[in-house]
Order: sequence, then structure tokens, then C-alpha cells
Amino acid sequence: MVHAVLNLPARVKIVEVGPRDGLQNEATILDVPVKVELVNRLSESGIGFIEVGAFVSPKKIPQMANSSAVFQGIQRKANICYSALVPNTVGFEAALASKVNEIAVFAAASETFSQRNINCSIDESFDRFLPVITAAKQANIPVRGYLSCVLGCPYEGKVEAEKVAILASRLFNMGCHEVSLGDTIGVGVATETVLLIDTVSKHVPIGKLAVHFHDTYGQALANIITALQKGISIVDSSVAGLGGCPYAVGASGNIATEDVVYALNKMGIKTDVDLEKLSRAGMWISQICKKNYQSKAGQAFLAKIKK
Ligand code: HMG
Ligand code: MG
Repeated sequence: MVHAVLNLPARVKIVEVGPRDGLQNEATILDVPVKVELVNRLSESGIGFIEVGAFVSPKKIPQMANSSAVFQGIQRKANICYSALVPNTVGFEAALASKVNEIAVFAAASETFSQRNINCSIDESFDRFLPVITAAKQANIPVRGYLSCVLGCPYEGKVEAEKVAILASRLFNMGCHEVSLGDTIGVGVATETVLLIDTVSKHVPIGKLAVHFHDTYGQALANIITALQKGISIVDSSVAGLGGCPYAVGASGNIATEDVVYALNKMGIKTDVDLEKLSRAGMWISQICKKNYQSKAGQAFLAKIKK
């Protein structure tokens, strides 16, 4: 198999973050029925992990204020994990009431970003996560950990891989079953990705690491393939490349899930995702957000099957 020759995994877990990471930074605040339809369409496309929303301060992120109602409205499929972002115990209680399958705590590898994003230092953020992770364990809810700014910070610039490794291992050792490394502002390139993965994987098992690339400089897919060749097999992406980060001005959305799925499917790497259903969902949500459809693969695929 070609993927084996190129040292690529046989299967990749895709974590769809569009309804959360995508919509949290769209100018249009979507109503509950639209968000519900988006999640349902994503479920129908075969994606196994969907980040549905966030239980964060509605004053900070008004786009996520209706997350409880969205969880209530979605049609859940038994084999799909529906997760949410949780910053503290207040958020955890709301997540629990919404019967989430998984939660994600989120820290940053830059002090300034941590302050701007969650209004506390990195150390304080870990103090807040401790009771959340303990409560999640008691409720049998798996916890994912995010680390932002792993390849650069909008305020502090360069971020050392060694620092990322230490913080990633703190998240892992606290009980996060998976740690997602976020290039929040999409500045990294393939050589930096190699150094990052090599350094972090000395502290956290490679199978427990995910990559989360925003596509600001168009490097995300190259970085993902590089990360896969280094042994990563979990990739975050956002349908239609929606979104950005409210605390990282100018950062564009995550890599479009359609682009990742097209590349992986064609390389013979199993994703279980139906590109047609996914692209139709991407085109539909882009129209609703009144923006051009950002996925090149999705556009090309839909144009081709129209003929
Ligand atoms: P705070 O202001 O430091 O602290 O917020 P607080 O605990 O004193 O709360 C202030 C107000 O928020 C209070 O309300 C609380 O009740 C309320 P008030 O008395 O003013 O009316 N509050 C909450 N409401 C709902 N749900 C909650 C909650 N907690 C407090 N859970 C806090 C700290 C973290 C809550 C706040 O700063 C916040 O919500 N920040 C939002 C951060 C966020 O969602 N950022 C975007 C996601 S991160 C990201 O995109 C990066 C990622 O994609 C990876 C990558 O790309 O790198 C994951
Ligand atoms: Mg992100």
C-alpha cells in the first residue's frame, strides 16, 4: 500500500470542530435549528467525532451561548462522540446536563494568549482544570486537552517546542486521554511541525496526540501530512474551513475537513467519511454564513458530480 511506503497511518481519526471552533468566530450568530442541522448533516457524513459547542462565558463568546439547546436538538448516533469545550466547573455542570460524550479543556502555550483567551495564567488554568477533570472522571466522561499557540503566538511570537512538550505532558498526566496541539494562528510550516512532534512525542505517547492546524498561511495540509508521517493519526478540522479564533486577530479557520478527507481518501487512508455528504454540508453552511465556500476539494468535488 502506498500509504505504508510513505510511512502514513492506515486510518485517521478526524475530529470535526466546525460547529464549535468554526462557528465561534463567524460574524453571523446562528440559531439553534441551523446548528442542529449542521451537526446532523455532519453525523450523516460519517464523521465519528463532532465538537458540537462550548460551555464558556456567553459574554466572551456569544456564538456559543445556545450550546445546551443545540445538544438537546441533535439526533445522536450511537457510534458518534459529541463533545464540547469546557473551561471550568460551571461549564462542566452545563456539559453534564447536556449529556455530552466527551469534554475538552483548553490551555495555551503562551501566557499572553492564556490571559486574553481565558483570563488567567497558564498555571491558574491548570488549577481550574483539576476539579473539572476529577468530576469528569467520576461521571465517566473522557477529557480531551487542547494546547494553543504551539507554533506561534499572536502576542508573543515564537513558542519553544520544549515548552509545548512540558505543557502537553501536564495535560496528559492530569488525565486528558488525548492532547490536541493547536497552531491557533496557522503560522507553522512543515519543518517546525517535525520539530514539534519529535519534541512533544518524547513526553506524550504519539498515539495520544492530535494536530489542529488553522490555515492562515495555507500550510495546514502540508503540516498535517508531515505530522501523519511522524506517527500522528488524529486530525482536527472544520467543515468548509469555517472560523478562526476570537483572540487571534487575522487567524483564519481550521483546515477544511473536505480537503483533509479528499487527500486521505485518495491516499488510501481510511476515514469513513462520505465526501459528497460532507461537501454538501460545507456548501450549505457557507451559504448560511453568507460567505464563499472555502474548501477547494469540496468545490471541485461538487462541480464534478454535477456533470
Ligand atoms: P472570567 O471572566 O475570568 O471569570 O472567565 P469568572 O469565572 O469570574 O466569570 C465571569 C462571568 O462569566 C460570570 O458571569 C460567570 O458566571 C460567567 P457574570 O457574573 O459576569 O454575569 N461564566 C460562565 N458562564 C457560562 N459558562 C461558563 C462560565 N464561566 C464563567 N463556563 C472564562 C473565565 C474561561 C469562563 C472566560 O474567559 C471564557 O469563557 N472565555 C472563553 C474562551 C473561549 O471560548 N475561547 C475560544 C475557544 S479556545 C480556541 O478556540 C482554541 C482551540 O480551538 C485550539 C487552537 O486553535 O489553538 C481550542
Ligand atoms: Mg482552533
